[in-house]
Amino acid sequence: MTTEQIALLRADLERARFTVDAMDALWGEAAAAALHRGQRVPAMRALLAPAPGDEALATLASLFVLGLPVDAVRAGAALPTLGVQGAADLELVRRDGDVVVALLDLRPYSFVDSLGVVSWWIASDLGELSIVGALREDHVLGVGGASTTLSGIMIGTRVETALDLGTGCGIQAMHAARHALRVVATDISSRAIQIAGFNAALNGIPNIEFRLGSLFDPVADERFGHIVSNPPFVITPRVAGVPAYEYRDGGLVGDALVASVIAGAADHLQPGGVAQLLGNWEYRGDEDGLERVGAWVDATGLDAWVVEREVQDAALYAETWIRDGGTRPGAEFDRLYGAWLDDFEARGVTRVGFGYLTLRRPAGERTLRRLERLGGPIGSGLGPHLAASLAAHDWQEALTDDELGRARLTVAGDVTEERHYWPGSQDPTVMTLRQGGGFGRSVPLDTALAALVGACDGELSVRAIAAAIAQLLEVDEAALLRELLPAVRELVVTGFLAV
Ligand SMILES: C[S@@+](CC[C@H](N)C(=O)[O-])C[C@H]1O[C@@H](n2cnc3c(N)ncnc32)[C@H](O)[C@@H]1O
Repeated sequence: MTTEQIALLRADLERARFTVDAMDALWGEAAAAALHRGQRVPAMRALLAPAPGDEALATLASLFVLGLPVDAVRAGAALPTLGVQGAADLELVRRDGDVVVALLDLRPYSFVDSLGVVSWWIASDLGELSIVGALREDHVLGVGGASTTLSGIMIGTRVETALDLGTGCGIQAMHAARHALRVVATDISSRAIQIAGFNAALNGIPNIEFRLGSLFDPVADERFGHIVSNPPFVITPRVAGVPAYEYRDGGLVGDALVASVIAGAADHLQPGGVAQLLGNWEYRGDEDGLERVGAWVDATGLDAWVVEREVQDAALYAETWIRDGGTRPGAEFDRLYGAWLDDFEARGVTRVGFGYLTLRRPAGERTLRRLERLGGPIGSGLGPHLAASLAAHDWQEALTDDELGRARLTVAGDVTEERHYWPGSQDPTVMTLRQGGGFGRSVPLDTALAALVGACDGELSVRAIAAAIAQLLEVDEAALLRELLPAVRELVVTGFLAV
């Protein structure tokens, strides 16, 4: 593979307008949704007669996204500068008589972050759509739901060095390369390292160094300002006959891989450095899975904010991951299902949690330990929201109650209040504060807190507002302030109130 050939490929992809928007317009919303569900027939039908000018786009989409063989003349026309031979040299395709067959999946990927709108192309191994049967154990994953979860929560604060552990197709390293001067991306799979290097080159991203090796071995003595990892966290039975997919399975028993990545991250963060990790955790017997993660992070002494997004029962978890490996319901599926349930039973696992962790090496004492259950979609605003929440946490943590009382706060622009009344009643029975951005939280309000939030316009101090409310409600001023301040701190940290 040469830099020159990659530049030719880029020129051809640009010329064909091989972008997410153009592809969606080509086959329409319903076909795009079907593809998301793993069904390519609607998209195939939409590509049969592309509009004039869309021929090259349709050919590239057929070949690289749908995994269909394409007539060699058509393929050559869609890659006019690189040519079919150039694509074969890059190991993207192979020629098979009169047709060309893709060897890799290659598709556009776009996102918005705090620096702007970005369009890339990402190569990965062919998915289940294009191959027959189960995946290879060294399969290199494309951008999936977990990938976009991690990239969506990624904090974009500028750092000197970042680490992406388990880089796969390189997607997190490429995101991190937007805010880090230098990124080290590691993987145990040489195939992943090769594909990730190709993706960085194709998208003109020069500041990533790729290293082969397990976990933190390739960065033994180094420390980073930002560590990101979507590690191989999938819980897999350790018995013969169960495939150990490199892309999702770290080779340890149960959720031990996630515990070891957390411990390793602690050893490789600079003071003030932040690690953002995805993980699964087991619910064993009566033990709460989220508290299990809490114990792992407590052992590191890091500031920790753990969000559990969902919990699956053991059976659903097994089904999800057996199916993910490309095994369809049948005898083999049932055999694997039994192995998964045996494995869970051996440790008393009833459920498995999924979520993400934001860990930070504090400059001094540890001040943050939040374990929460929060669902909802992950938008591109979540990274900045997490960064703002950490800053808000630090701000209020540094203030005594007296100092916080003197602060002048404003209600954030995305906050609304809901009031519900019994029919005919003057006073609301339920008041709720809702957040439009961030985690989309809702907070129940009592009369005093509702009045305080309503009066936070940046003019009056918290203490002055509390004093006025105490007068209205005819209660003790100091006692009301004492009661309101913990709620004010929480509303500041969670982004309802701004400084
Ligand atoms: C779930 S994939 C994540 C890929 C990519 N970072 C993303 O977010 O889409 C996990 C990656 O970890 C790699 N991996 C597996 N075991 C590893 C190990 N012991 N050390 C480092 N990487 C490992 C796999 O090869 C795979 O690329």
